Amino acid sequence: MKAIHIAEPLSVKAIETQVPAPKKNEALIKVKSAGICGSDISAFRGMNPLVSYPRTIGHEIAGEVISIPPNAQGIQPGDKVIVDPYLYCGKCYPCSLNRTNCCEHLQVLGVHVDGGMSEYFCHPADMLVKAPDGMPWDIMCMAEPLTIALHGLHRTRLQKGEHIAIIGAGAIGLLAALSALHYEAVPIVIDIVQERLEKARMMGVEHVINSAAEDVVQAISRMTGGRKAEVVLEASGANAAVRATLDIVSHAGRIGLTGWPKQETRLPTDIITKKELDIVGCRTSVGEFEEAIELIDSGKVDVRKLLTKTVNGKEAAAVIEDIERNPDQYLKVNVLL
Ligand SMILES: NC(=O)c1ccc[n+]([C@@H]2O[C@H](COP(=O)([O-])OP(=O)(O)OC[C@H]3O[C@@H](n4cnc5c(N)ncnc54)[C@H](O)[C@@H]3O)[C@@H](O)[C@H]2O)c1
Ligand SMILES: [Zn+2]
Ligand SMILES: [Zn+2]
Repeated sequence: MKAIHIAEPLSVKAIETQVPAPKKNEALIKVKSAGICGSDISAFRGMNPLVSYPRTIGHEIAGEVISIPPNAQGIQPGDKVIVDPYLYCGKCYPCSLNRTNCCEHLQVLGVHVDGGMSEYFCHPADMLVKAPDGMPWDIMCMAEPLTIALHGLHRTRLQKGEHIAIIGAGAIGLLAALSALHYEAVPIVIDIVQERLEKARMMGVEHVINSAAEDVVQAISRMTGGRKAEVVLEASGANAAVRATLDIVSHAGRIGLTGWPKQETRLPTDIITKKELDIVGCRTSVGEFEEAIELIDSGKVDVRKLLTKTVNGKEAAAVIEDIERNPDQYLKVNVLL
């Protein structure tokens, strides 16, 4: 079978390799679609210290079950499934709270262990989520990034009618904005790249701010009648953006940190005390796959609006190289295998 493989940083290829044999608890899946994520590009660049090489990438995986042991969800061969890609230990403190997404020993596909951007893939049967038969393959793998966005909204307890300032109009930020619209909240999308903001507008986001061109605190104050945003979701990973969350959030507001900054951010904690803020980390997702599948399948969150293009397995390596060179030209690319 073919697998999209990074031998070492800056070397990506579709290699020929053996179809894997499932272990006792695992299903064998014929992979149909796999999303290329920022973290796959980071692995290609050699920028993620957690990635060891050689590595098959891919953690946004949808496919058809070829074989599966008896399982609690009743998934059968022939079913369409989405892979829940966050492998947890089940023994540590966060796992004991069912917060398996922040397991002390979390292993993410394509980072710590081989991912699923390959024609076949084996995965624990109890970490598959069934998708409806009619769901199109090309967008099915976007359930995973949608769960990340939903997790940010759930962690910040976003309510109908509230403003949510979302910093970063990449795949995660825009999925959060679409989900916020579905929740009948008011997204305000902030980025430094104007095309990304135009994209947000085309998706139905009324309020956008180019923080490279405009005073973001003034703009937020204007858009919220002086209150500022009840919820802020940081989805850029930029240190300056993490710092700005404290200025654009309302008093008694909530901040969710989804972005992964590469360096430490200095924060004036007196603002946290003065405004009495709730600041939460938002790591991967837990229990959000069913909702993501329903939102995509029903069209309530139209993830196709983010899809730059789909490519086949042969084209995947070349497109990964091009995304690395021209990141602003791509929002989401899915590989059909
Ligand atoms: N917590 C998690 O589990 C998790 C999961 C996936 C991604 N992430 C992180 O979330 C972030 C977003 O992921 P993505 O795939 O959407 O990335 P992306 O690169 O597609 O999008 C990031 C966006 O942020 C914008 N940006 C950069 N600097 C900015 C600044 N100073 N102010 C405002 N906007 C700025 C960029 O122009 C871009 O549009 C990344 O940091 C990624 O590592 C976290
Ligand atoms: Zn991803
Ligand atoms: Zn654990």
